[in-house]
Amino acid sequence: MAYAYDVVHDTSDPNKVLSEIHRVLKAEKLMADNRRETTLPDNRKHTGSSHHTQRMIISVTVLVQNKGRLSLSTMEAPAFEIYMNDVIGNGFLALSVCVGKEMGLYDEMCSLESPATVQQIADKTNLKERYVKEWLGSMVAGKIVEVDQDSRLYHIPDQYKDYLKNPMITMAPIMTLLANQYRKLKSCFTRQGPNGYDFRGYPEYYSWLESIREVMADDIVDKDMIPHYGDLIDKLTEGAIVADIGCGTGNICIAFAKRFPKTTFLGLDYGGEAIAKGRALVSKEKITNVEFEQVDATDMPQSWGNRFDMAYAYDVVHDTSDPNKVLSEIHRILKADGIFSLVEIDMQSPHYENKGDPMAVMNYTFSMYSCLPNSLAVPPSAGLGACWGVDKIRPCLVQTGFKIVKEEQQTVEPNRHFICKKIVGGMA
Ligand SMILES: C[S@@+](CC[C@H](N)C(=O)[O-])C[C@H]1O[C@@H](n2cnc3c(N)ncnc32)[C@H](O)[C@@H]1O
Repeated sequence: MAYAYDVVHDTSDPNKVLSEIHRVLKAEKLMADNRRETTLPDNRKHTGSSHHTQRMIISVTVLVQNKGRLSLSTMEAPAFEIYMNDVIGNGFLALSVCVGKEMGLYDEMCSLESPATVQQIADKTNLKERYVKEWLGSMVAGKIVEVDQDSRLYHIPDQYKDYLKNPMITMAPIMTLLANQYRKLKSCFTRQGPNGYDFRGYPEYYSWLESIREVMADDIVDKDMIPHYGDLIDKLTEGAIVADIGCGTGNICIAFAKRFPKTTFLGLDYGGEAIAKGRALVSKEKITNVEFEQVDATDMPQSWGNRFDMAYAYDVVHDTSDPNKVLSEIHRILKADGIFSLVEIDMQSPHYENKGDPMAVMNYTFSMYSCLPNSLAVPPSAGLGACWGVDKIRPCLVQTGFKIVKEEQQTVEPNRHFICKKIVGGMA
């Protein structure tokens, strides 16, 4: 007897493998290939999809609407098994979605005038046909792409195209980026392992950040920042000095600068790769009212004291190793009555408040792989994590000497925007 368990499809020459197995077997022996047709009696034959795989594709509604948020009821064991199979199955699907996004497959398929063959899709994307075929298999199984049974032509339904072209799908490639950190993360979990790892050893992070900010920056500025500035808008129009703390790849800073050409913007970040990308974009777009400097927000130049009319920190403070120091540095560099605009993830710190919230799942996971290790990497290693919570943010701002003038829920990203005024001499 010989058996080949989950092997034949992996070989470069399956026919040769089968004929070799045939050759080494004695006459009339049983050969079992676990992949497809088995030697089971007819009524027990199956096509390789196991009981668990079958169940994985049964979707179950375990998310219950609760006050506009999703909450998860505790499940019985069978429902939990189905739920977990869904979770894992969708994890695989998400990895294929990353490929679809990054290899331009969605973009090309969304622009197809009519359903196409595998070869046509491969030609349109200039990719290898065999890989495209495998990807299409996963997309069809995952119900994102349709295939016609007779013609074998593939298409994306029209009603799916908006989503697939939506900026949110640019979140998908972050999963592969995070997965690259998996080994490092595991060693950070162990007691003898390192405390963390920071963005500066992680240049792909800035490339990903740039890719999402390219599509979101204008909306962030137009919909979620400027409309809440009230009187400050006049000042920005007439000409002011603004600091973008932890500006990343500079896209938000540049979007601001375009809208307020008389105001000078200074984007600072401690990541050299981030600053280089910001500078490249400024020179490409020939913008003259933005500068980028590589500066650590926990220790800004002494000469910046009382210099800025406004500062903002978009999705940054929780990433730093010393958020209290960053906030007090921001306070120091602002003029008296200067405005600080803080944007952080809109969550509550107690875990039970976020039960069943899919956005919280994403935020916590992202934070565990990225924000938390970054903050823990360097002393004093505050380790707030992205989900430190608006309930903790408010007292922190007040203790630093800011008065919270306004709080707004953002619409482009699930963030909260605190508009604060610098109070001189004591707590706000
Ligand atoms: C999530 S990114 C946000 C970037 C940018 N504000 C945006 O939204 O596009 C966080 C940024 O904080 C920067 N950062 C973290 N700690 C920092 C520190 N101590 N000083 C300056 N920048 C820091 C990182 O390099 C990274 O670019």
